[in-house]
Amino acid sequence: MPTIVFASPKGGVGKSTAAVLLATELASHGGAVTMIDADPNRPLTQWANLPGKPAKLSVLTTTTEESIIDLIEKAAVQTSFVIVDLEGTASMMVGYAMSRADLVIIPAQGSHLDATEAVKAMKLVRSQEKAFKRKIPFAILFTRTSAAIRPRTLQSIEGQFAENKVPVFNTQINERDAYKALFAFGGTLAGLDSSQVSNIPAAILNAKIFAAEVIDLLKSNTPAKRRQQEEVA
Ligand SMILES: Nc1ncnc2c1ncn2[C@@H]1O[C@H](COP(=O)(O)OP(=O)(O)OP(=O)(O)O)[C@@H](O)[C@H]1O
Ligand SMILES: [Mg+2]
Repeated sequence: MPTIVFASPKGGVGKSTAAVLLATELASHGGAVTMIDADPNRPLTQWANLPGKPAKLSVLTTTTEESIIDLIEKAAVQTSFVIVDLEGTASMMVGYAMSRADLVIIPAQGSHLDATEAVKAMKLVRSQEKAFKRKIPFAILFTRTSAAIRPRTLQSIEGQFAENKVPVFNTQINERDAYKALFAFGGTLAGLDSSQVSNIPAAILNAKIFAAEVIDLLKSNTPAKRRQQEEVA
C-alpha cells in the first residue's frame, strides 16, 4: 500500500511533526499504519514510547541504509500506509527511501533558505527517478506558517514555485502549540488535554485537511491516472 516519505536536507522544518500528524489521522480512520523512523535521533520512537499511540499504528526503526528498502517493501504489503521519516540531511538512506515512495513530501518553512533546501530535495527526487527509472510524485508542504497572516516572503516563495510549476500542497501546517505538545505528551491531537494545550480543535482540523490532501494526491498520482493526464496533455 502507499508509501509516503518525508524528506528535506534542512533540519527542523517539521518533517517528524507532519509525519506524526498524518499517521495519527490515517490510523484514526481504521487503517493500519506503519511509520519507519529512519532518523538516528529517533524522534518517532520517542513519541511512540509516550502513552496514547493508536493501536493501529506501529513504529519501526531502521539503522542501516541497506535495510530501508526491505523494511518499506515488507511494511507496504502488511499495512494500509507506510510513512517514512528521515533525518534532516542528504544521505544514501534518503535516496533509497525516495526510490520506493508513492509520494515524497518536502516540508519547508516560509523562508528563502528553506526554499533553497526544498529545491535540493526536489533535485534528489529527480535524480532518484532517473536512477530507478520510475516517476516519483512529490510536493512541497509549507510548515509552521501563521494561521492569521501571510507574510510577503512566503508569498514571494509561493509565487516562484508556482511560476516554475513546482507542486505545492494547498494545505499549510500552521505553527501550533498542539503540534509541539504531541511530542511532549504523546498520543494524538484528540487525546491532548485542553486545559494544558490551546486551540486543539483548530489543530485537529488543520491535520485532517492535510491528510485529506495527501489522499487526493496519492489518488491523482496512480499510474493509470498519470497515463490519463499525459494523454489529455
Ligand atoms: N507546525 C508546528 N507548530 C509548532 N511547532 C512545530 C511545528 N512543526 C515543528 N515544530 C517544532 O519545531 C521543531 C522541529 O520540528 P520537527 O522535529 O518536526 O522537524 P524535523 O524536520 O523533523 O527536524 P529534523 O530534521 O531534526 O528531523 C520541534 O521542536 C517541533 O516541535
Ligand atoms: Mg525529524
